[in-house]
Amino acid sequence: GHGHGHGRSGLKFTGIRPGTGDDVAIPDGYEQRVVVRWGDPVLPDAPEFDFTAQTADAQAKQFGYNCDYVAFQPLDRDRGLLWVNHEYTNEALMFAGYTDGGDADPEQIATAMAAHGGSVVEIRREYEDRGRGRGRGKSTGGWRLSQGWRRFNRRITPSTPMELTGPAAGHDLLRTEADPDGTRVLGMLNNCAGGMTPWGTILTCEENFHQYFVGGEGAPDGAKPAMARYGIPTEGDTRSGNRRFDRVEERFDLSRHPNEANRFGYVVEVDPYDPDSTPKKRTMLGRFKHEGANHRITRDGRIAVYLGDDERFDYIYKFVSKRSYRKGSRRGNSTLLDSGTLYVATFRGDSPENEIDGSGALPSDGAFDGWGEWIPLCSDSESFVEGFSVAEVLVHTRLAADEAGATKMDRPEDIEASPATGKIYCALTNNSAREPGQADEPNPRGPNRFGHILEITERRGDAAATKFRWDVPIVCGDPEDEGTYFAGYDKSKVTAISSPDNLTFDERGNLWIATDGMEWGNDGLFAVPVEGRDKGELKMFARVPDGAECCGPLITEDQKTVFIAPQHPGDGGAYDDPQSTWPDHDGFPRPSVVAIWHGRGKDIGS
Ligand code: FEO
Ligand code: CA
Ligand code: CA
Ligand code: CA
Repeated sequence: GHGHGHGRSGLKFTGIRPGTGDDVAIPDGYEQRVVVRWGDPVLPDAPEFDFTAQTADAQAKQFGYNCDYVAFQPLDRDRGLLWVNHEYTNEALMFAGYTDGGDADPEQIATAMAAHGGSVVEIRREYEDRGRGRGRGKSTGGWRLSQGWRRFNRRITPSTPMELTGPAAGHDLLRTEADPDGTRVLGMLNNCAGGMTPWGTILTCEENFHQYFVGGEGAPDGAKPAMARYGIPTEGDTRSGNRRFDRVEERFDLSRHPNEANRFGYVVEVDPYDPDSTPKKRTMLGRFKHEGANHRITRDGRIAVYLGDDERFDYIYKFVSKRSYRKGSRRGNSTLLDSGTLYVATFRGDSPENEIDGSGALPSDGAFDGWGEWIPLCSDSESFVEGFSVAEVLVHTRLAADEAGATKMDRPEDIEASPATGKIYCALTNNSAREPGQADEPNPRGPNRFGHILEITERRGDAAATKFRWDVPIVCGDPEDEGTYFAGYDKSKVTAISSPDNLTFDERGNLWIATDGMEWGNDGLFAVPVEGRDKGELKMFARVPDGAECCGPLITEDQKTVFIAPQHPGDGGAYDDPQSTWPDHDGFPRPSVVAIWHGRGKDIGS
């Protein structure tokens, strides 16, 4: 790696100020371009996008809504495949007169459904234009959608056939009338963040899948406690305020098909290089509101995948494979995620409990830190939780982790390993429900309005370790507030930040943080060194349009491009009153992916 452990961060850009505005703001010297928008053609026979006459059939061939996770896999020097999650839809912004799923035109429901899922699109590197007749100049960090028919382009929707794999596949809990074997599911829902594997596949993670189901009040009583633990309503009117997918596909009604919800909430593996491949729902990685799935290779060559469950008071997990990753062995790697061990994290502080008062004031040892342990929940052949079979651990993972005594965290979002040090970083976005008396060293504020970053150092640096040290290097908020901390850096020189969500690293090991819920202006992308002399010097790199959260982010391997995905521009507005018209400013907002690069070809962050 490029570890500059004691050196400077290389983050020389002039940070931008928090603020508002219906554009993407970037530092001086940088350039940007929208790469792909909601409605752009993905498949060869996709019709032109027509905002006033959308159809489900068209949408299933066009780029979907609300871009979240962004991945990139190269094809050659000038072309690459962009993977983008389409987490969910804002029907009020998409359709005129939309009020509720119960009243909506079924074609609108089917259109919104087809706008979920993910897309693979081929993109092409841009070159400087040297002017008429003088040919093309140097390559830039800019990218554009390849035009015409592209063989890897693909739309994945809630209708795409998928396979359930791993130890829970075929279990009674996963069987339905339409799938008596419990191995075939249609589609994925609410895919939030994700990860890339060393063998070139995409891991895309189903998060708030609970919101797509109705009829929980009519489900068998025995199924209700588990449904409720996953946030699926099981009493009263479960239909109002729902998108009502059940009105176009009956399987979303749990009073008729109570197991259908058990078939969502997984990490899904997609091979972007094979558009005909069947996406795999990997049950071995557990079922919860999966945020992301980023890996490290263990000392003995196996793969460890770090997983967050984004809910207040939910948990951090780790999967470690049984077999080793073998470079170039596509067949062997294709089942690596089906066997191994699933762990959940416990954290213990090393300061006296009475020194943690919920205000964010540091304890007398000067750090929110301590040690922790990964508690095994099950392997592919053995359950370690009393009263749960292997399949029950993997389908009712939250309940098994409750039983194992996991540490309740402040909404674990993205988790990512530093390429420079191998240390693991987790964004804990916020937790308005934590009482002051519930504050503990790993979650030191109650309520936690602004979130924090947690650092995990595995014992001996081995991702297979079951014990670790941990630390809270950043306690987010307004740096003028006493209950904030920026790794000891001079707080008069850092910017305010709140609600850290998606994470990535540059090759130097600087942490890049995208926010979802900035208190001071619009959300954005921030960069902060987590080692060396500049540790804690947090700066704002990009600001997204009004109403949007900042998703992506992804820095390409050559360090020349950062992709961000401003999600839900104009959120809170309506079709007739959109409040954002980004990016085209021609009447309505379109969630899109943006490439940002340095105008003189320097590395991102320079
Ligand atoms: Fe979809 Fe936890 O953010
Ligand atoms: Ca401490
Ligand atoms: Ca997220
Ligand atoms: Ca979030």
